[in-house]
Amino acid sequence: MSPPPGDSAYDDRASIEEAVRLGDHRGVIGGLWTEIGELQMSFLKANGLRPSDHLIDIGCGSLRGGVHFAAYLEPHHYWGIDSNLSLLDAAYALEVPAAGLGARLGRDSLVCNEEFDFGLFGREFDVAIAQSLFTHLSANRIRLCLCRLAAALKPGGRLFATYFEAPEDHPWDEPIMHPQGVLTYGFKDPFHYRLSELKDLSDSLPWRLIWSGDWGHPRGQRMAILERVARTTVSGKP
Ligand SMILES: C[S@@+](CC[C@H](N)C(=O)[O-])C[C@H]1O[C@@H](n2cnc3c(N)ncnc32)[C@H](O)[C@@H]1O
Repeated sequence: MSPPPGDSAYDDRASIEEAVRLGDHRGVIGGLWTEIGELQMSFLKANGLRPSDHLIDIGCGSLRGGVHFAAYLEPHHYWGIDSNLSLLDAAYALEVPAAGLGARLGRDSLVCNEEFDFGLFGREFDVAIAQSLFTHLSANRIRLCLCRLAAALKPGGRLFATYFEAPEDHPWDEPIMHPQGVLTYGFKDPFHYRLSELKDLSDSLPWRLIWSGDWGHPRGQRMAILERVARTTVSGKP
């Protein structure tokens, strides 16, 4: 028996690859290329990102934010991971040269992996961003991401992760139409989460949720800032 299809729209590699082949590598990751790219950069800069930091961009896609980060950070301090090889290839073939970033970012800084295997980079990071990633992940996958990232981020390092928020009393099985026109679900992509759910996920691992709120995302995604707390085990046990 073959495994069931994944629970994210981005698990359909063939469709993503076809969109990329048709020249839509900017649209298939959500569009609003300039607006959401610049928003990520300005938010992280305003929240302490320094050129000397090593940044891991989780679910980096075709580098909508990546081209800004790679230009701001010192050469070879930007790293990206994504489950769709076609997006990484399009980014490196088209966006990196267009932005004049070839000397600042090597192709091997962009890794294709769907299980958050940050060990493939062979290094630690200071800061992480997951823009429009948790919106496409089930809770179990978010837990895996947090668990593995905890082993790759320096203690005190921060993860900036966007998500669609559900009110605490929202029925588990009912979708939400957000004011910006996006329909989200508790059980399928695009996912929404109660803040308490994210807190539960992070509290069971070496993470502390330090802030969440509106950060001006045009589609109404919230931003959560999590800090990697010093703890030696990532098993969830204290
Ligand atoms: C909406 S796009 C956002 C891309 C990028 N963060 C940006 O802001 O432009 C979501 C990205 O997450 C990637 N993704 C989904 N599931 C993933 C997983 N399990 N591991 C790594 N990347 C994943 C998708 O391939 C896609 O590129």
